[in-house]
Amino acid sequence: MRNIDEDTITQAVLESMDGCRNPRLLTVMTSLVQHLHAFAREVKLTEDEWFTAIRFLTDVGHITDDKRQEFVLLSDTLGLSMLVTTQNNKKPAACTEATVLGPFFVDGAPEYQNGDDVSNGAVGAPCFVQGQIRGVDGKPVANASIDVWQSDEDGFYDVQKTTEDVGDMVHSARGKLRSLADGRFHFRSILAEAYPIPHDGPVGKMLDALGRHPWRPAHLHFWIKAPGYDTLITHVFRDGDQYLDSDAVFGVRSNLVVEWVKHGPGIAPDGSVMTTPFYTLDYDFVLNQQEAAA
Ligand code: BEZ
Ligand code: FE
Repeated sequence: MRNIDEDTITQAVLESMDGCRNPRLLTVMTSLVQHLHAFAREVKLTEDEWFTAIRFLTDVGHITDDKRQEFVLLSDTLGLSMLVTTQNNKKPAACTEATVLGPFFVDGAPEYQNGDDVSNGAVGAPCFVQGQIRGVDGKPVANASIDVWQSDEDGFYDVQKTTEDVGDMVHSARGKLRSLADGRFHFRSILAEAYPIPHDGPVGKMLDALGRHPWRPAHLHFWIKAPGYDTLITHVFRDGDQYLDSDAVFGVRSNLVVEWVKHGPGIAPDGSVMTTPFYTLDYDFVLNQQEAAA
């Protein structure tokens, strides 16, 4: 393998992988090499540009740690996360659509009962959320596990506000609860607001250089799991938000956008007397039944 030139380099790299014993790895790497080389040829990549890309990826690596995942953010902002989500979550039309997980999910969030306030001190206008979980056959899904998480009125998630270990953190505006026997769930939280994704690092600089903003429209995240049904990772978006058509991570689906109804002071859905305005959100989720269970 000598005197490899511009025209023979791609084939030489592909042949170098002949000994790969993992067929899927070989498929993925063959395609990756072909596309990377085709890209460099198409744009006639200069050495300066190559160095800039290497520096950028190095910066992405340096800022990444247990709490800050800049590689995921890069994937999100390039639309790769949403592409992978959509091509792996094709469901019957009646099912609720999936969208990006994002970097702010926490495994082991505090557990709550229906009717509880999951805000746990997070600041924002009160919001009462309710809905039902059903299968595509219309039957209620009882005892589904429901993780919810959201930002506060300043646009920050609890995990962004502390430098302490997540294990010692007091979580707010997130929780885990279960659907009732009739598939319904209800909890109190705060109104979700639009927020910018972390943009003080290399991904933020990239967005700026591309003339893009870092904002996501207001949303509430859900991760719903129930035996016999496909897991659903999604969010519900607030209708009227100015960023619905320019989400920095391309996650908005029309049928996930709903009105969060504003109410003046008065009686809330849980019977409590509200002295300030509050919101209600009513949204039902439809899960795909797994074949063995259908
Ligand atoms: C989120 O919605 O939490 C999120 C998703 C992608 C990137 C950053 C944040
Ligand atoms: Fe979010």
